[in-house]
Amino acid sequence: MSVNQTPSHNALPALSGADIRQKFLAFYAAREHQILDSASLVPEDPTVLLTIAGMLPFKPIFLGQRTAEFDRATTAQKCIRTNDIENVGRTARHHTFFEMLGNFSFGDYFKREAIAWAWQLSTEVFKLPPDRLVPSVFREDDEAFAIWRDDIGIPAHRIIRMDEADNFWTSGPTGPCGPCSEIYYDFHPEWGDDNIDLEDDSRFIEYYNLVFMQYNRDAAGKLTPLDAQNIDTGLGLERMAQILQGVPNNYETDLIFPIIQTAAEIAGLDYQQAGDAQKVSLKVIGDHVRAVIHMVTDGITASNVGRGYVLRRLIRRVVRHGRLLGIEKPFTTQIAETAIALSEQAYPAVRTRQTAIKNELDREEIQFLKTLERGEKRLADILEGQPEKVSGKDAFELYDTYGFPLELTQEIAEESGIAVDEAGFNEAMEHQRQRSKEAHETIDLTVQGSLDSLADAIDSTEFVGYEQADTQSKVEAVLIAGESVNQAGIGREVQVVLDRTPFYAESGGQIGDRGYLSGENLVIRVEDVKKEGAFFVHFGKVERGAVAVGDQVSAKIDLACRRRAQANHTATHLLQAALKSLVDESISQAGSLVDFDRLRFDFHAPEALSAEQLQQVEKQVNTWIAEAHSADVQTMPIAEAKARGAVAMFGEKYGDDVRVIDYPGVSMELCGGTHVGNTAEIGVFKIVAETGVAAGIRRIEAVAGPAILDYLEVRDRIVRDLSERFKTKPEEITERVTSLQSELKTAQKDLAALKSELALAKSDQLIGQAETFGDIPVLVANLDAVEPDALKAAAERLLQKLGEGAVVLGSVPEPGKVSLVAAFSKPVIGKGLQAGKFIGGIAKLCGGGGGGRPNFAQAGGRDADKLPAALEAAKVQLKEALGG
Ligand code: ALA
Repeated sequence: MSVNQTPSHNALPALSGADIRQKFLAFYAAREHQILDSASLVPEDPTVLLTIAGMLPFKPIFLGQRTAEFDRATTAQKCIRTNDIENVGRTARHHTFFEMLGNFSFGDYFKREAIAWAWQLSTEVFKLPPDRLVPSVFREDDEAFAIWRDDIGIPAHRIIRMDEADNFWTSGPTGPCGPCSEIYYDFHPEWGDDNIDLEDDSRFIEYYNLVFMQYNRDAAGKLTPLDAQNIDTGLGLERMAQILQGVPNNYETDLIFPIIQTAAEIAGLDYQQAGDAQKVSLKVIGDHVRAVIHMVTDGITASNVGRGYVLRRLIRRVVRHGRLLGIEKPFTTQIAETAIALSEQAYPAVRTRQTAIKNELDREEIQFLKTLERGEKRLADILEGQPEKVSGKDAFELYDTYGFPLELTQEIAEESGIAVDEAGFNEAMEHQRQRSKEAHETIDLTVQGSLDSLADAIDSTEFVGYEQADTQSKVEAVLIAGESVNQAGIGREVQVVLDRTPFYAESGGQIGDRGYLSGENLVIRVEDVKKEGAFFVHFGKVERGAVAVGDQVSAKIDLACRRRAQANHTATHLLQAALKSLVDESISQAGSLVDFDRLRFDFHAPEALSAEQLQQVEKQVNTWIAEAHSADVQTMPIAEAKARGAVAMFGEKYGDDVRVIDYPGVSMELCGGTHVGNTAEIGVFKIVAETGVAAGIRRIEAVAGPAILDYLEVRDRIVRDLSERFKTKPEEITERVTSLQSELKTAQKDLAALKSELALAKSDQLIGQAETFGDIPVLVANLDAVEPDALKAAAERLLQKLGEGAVVLGSVPEPGKVSLVAAFSKPVIGKGLQAGKFIGGIAKLCGGGGGGRPNFAQAGGRDADKLPAALEAAKVQLKEALGG
């Protein structure tokens, strides 16, 4: 695509990604824009799965549903788009995760200022030469055209009119929208002004989009002018970095390249020498890992639906591409560490959530590696049949179900001298691609299997589980791995669709029911239930007999599980009511999870709750439980529910009639979930944790109902274990730990003193290792595990012993930490060397920095593995500078 795009310019300021972000925000802050933090990747707006643009958090303001606190705002917004995921790594600039820098006007300035500032920012701050910039406008937007020509002075033939497909921006099928004007950077102005084709991405890159947001589009496509004229813009941070850093693609900018280098190192490759396919894999890893760390930071966990599925798919793609590079072992957490280190300054939450990120990656990666192993077995079975070719269908199944890349299938098949039907594979792939392309960005990306094709032939499922725990049902469809079959026998993992079911299907945060489907000669243990359109799909395993389409079965839920889930679910409603009444009436839900063991409630709040507030909330919920409020569940038109003051749960989609769960005087919410008949059934409610999941989003984890006993048992075991270990009564553990801590502190101090003495003693022996470069004695050495203070003392003492000269010492005082020191005497400084600068450069090689005075300086780093090489580099540099 654009590999030949090596820019021929040198005069641009080589700004880092962080500089670009900062300069953009500062430019607009100086023009009275309020700088706001990036919103979460999990949008408040329920119509989209993920935050896809900088404007999304402001959508209610553009629509006039919320008043803005400021007329102008500017942000660096984390975004994720996955509609073009197959292009990632293959073109110069496709990403899943990217940062969009934006300036916004809410009914304040409009086209004239937006264009003038975008131009000024481009040419004065980023110093892009004006003759390399080409703006586009919407074909009918004469006003924008005139501003570019008359205010800015662009020759008319260089202002390109484009049609609706390119220059009319909308955030989705409905919502705020308007004509836009884009600014393109020209990598090849020498190709001349004739036939300017902005779509030619070997020549142009669009880096800034100015949207003149003035309409709302409804579901029928009708445009209605908004009350106010607004500005929404987006400047792609990675794209600007590509331009300014003069690299051939976004991946090689400082925002992503270090991740690629880590991946290359693990694979034992040199990126520059790598083949094209290897480069694609490295770029995919570099891109996806950024998406993963930010998604997990914002509270998303891997699953089979919605955002969780996007996350799972990204992680699997990372593992898969690692495999393609020959990496066999788990490696993703190591890559994530580089990505976290790159992001933590701008987004500190990635560091505080590092454990969650690494746990998620670990779990998913190991699980997926097992899947891959199963795929290898499946392929072995296929090859055993000695087919002429591995069919396209089989190759695609291996790819789609087991995550096997075509290349891997080919490689393994080749060993048996068998080819793979590549055309057939591509056909199946294209078929799937078409299907997912039809799905808009916002649509759940779950592969529907062939349930889709059955949709017209079978009845939708009737849900009777609000009233009944078991029922007689007819089997409408049986699927194995998404493929419809007529019957399935013992041992099979199946998905069963029934005409009628008491099983609750996972939704609104509540987990699906467990239970059994049984017949005369049949037992299926149901392990999960999900909704696919109008069908309830029961996931389970045939434990006895066989199941066939048309069978009559008895469908029975596990009531104990259901009771646990509904105690947790009702408790979630009570928790929300208590937060609203005791903390802040405006608290709104950002997500929730209710399973058999616990509940999790995420909500928008600017800061952590105090211990006292949490205690009050917990007490209030328990009071309501003890007061034994009975549920009043009714179905009514949505308008009536709202008029009665029902709280709408985030993320739920409602038809015209809604279900209202009312514990009169306590809590009233719209909710499709299952609930206790009386709050007394919950028994007890206990808050277990309160944490932050993202900027402005807090999470409360709690346990209610029968699950409390499990929780207490675990706690109790911990306490008993501790009291045994410490040989003390449970109530005295705290005191015992405090005294042990203080003993430990004293011991650590003594140890540090001893270490320092040891370091000095050891350093005395090093003096014999000094070398002479151009008459000047030089000593470079690794003191292993010495603390920074001791290292400093050792360097001073060694320099004293050398008389004149240079001493450079390094150590690894604790895992993941590097300490460095340089001491130079006059003759060394006389040769133009400065200890501060020198050691700063060496520290960089170990992933750190630092500096100090010309004669003495200390620095630190994180990459202990790199210390030997860094010290070697120090020696080489000294040798070069001092001669010798
Ligand atoms: N919302 C506009 C975009 O995403 C700026 O391109």
